[in-house]
Amino acid sequence: MNLKDKVAIVTGGNSGIGQAIVLELARQGASVVIDYVANPAATAALEQQLAALGERAVGVQADVSQVADLQRLIAAAVQAFGRIDIMVNNAGIETRSSVLETTESQYDKVLAINLKSAFFGTQLAAQQMIKQGGGGRIINISSVHEDWPMPGNAPYCLSKGGMRMLTRTAGVELAAHGICVVGVGPGAVATPINQSTMADPALLAKLDAAIPLGRLARPEEIASVVAFLAGDGASYMTATTVFADGGIMQSSPGL
Ligand SMILES: NC(=O)c1ccc[n+]([C@@H]2O[C@H](COP(=O)([O-])OP(=O)(O)OC[C@H]3O[C@@H](n4cnc5c(N)ncnc54)[C@H](O)[C@@H]3O)[C@@H](O)[C@H]2O)c1
Repeated sequence: MNLKDKVAIVTGGNSGIGQAIVLELARQGASVVIDYVANPAATAALEQQLAALGERAVGVQADVSQVADLQRLIAAAVQAFGRIDIMVNNAGIETRSSVLETTESQYDKVLAINLKSAFFGTQLAAQQMIKQGGGGRIINISSVHEDWPMPGNAPYCLSKGGMRMLTRTAGVELAAHGICVVGVGPGAVATPINQSTMADPALLAKLDAAIPLGRLARPEEIASVVAFLAGDGASYMTATTVFADGGIMQSSPGL
């Protein structure tokens, strides 16, 4: 029980990577707040699954692109479990739009959900961690695209590039308070965000072939990295990104 007595918030926690993180943090003993914006039935099912395992979890509906909702989310976590030790900024979307074609509303939406949310999620969680004392962990679910251009997915790459520098800047600023800030950069993971690729056998085969490990990651393979970063074993890690990409960044630049 690496995370016994810890309290975690996971944004976008009722599907894909977020759901796997919720399950793994709870399995390791943390009480978990599951942030979600859509599909309350999935959140309820996840809460029930955790309750059946004897874990403490509560769902809170909050749109992380809105600072007022993030404030409500932090307050709900403190009300439910008394403190916050681990903040996982996971919620994210893609538009798959190019530099030439991205509209203002696509740009604003992706940057608000992927980056503004992580900035204010970091700020508000850190304020609470400083108030309660004892440090904390902030884990930003970034992407290989924080470093690696993806033609046709411009706002997404910008948002993850911004998250890269958020992780570094906040990591340096917050170190004095014992708060570590680390990014996790997955490659391709089998989740709803990749639905269209996974539904196209030819495209999926091309992607698999480009990944040295030969396949997409399972969400659990990202969640285990997050759980490690949230635990004692990662106490000297901050202001950096850990990549879990099956080796793709070293083998297929520009895919
Ligand atoms: N799947 C991949 O290949 C991959 C690779 C690298 C990084 N990532 C990142 O992992 C994170 C999770 O993505 P996923 O693959 O699990 O996809 P997903 O679509 O299953 O999860 C994204 C989650 O974010 C939630 N969300 C969207 N807008 C929100 C909002 N305004 N407020 C709160 N929640 C909101 C969605 O409801 C969903 O639960 C994202 O940040 C994504 O960029 C995914």
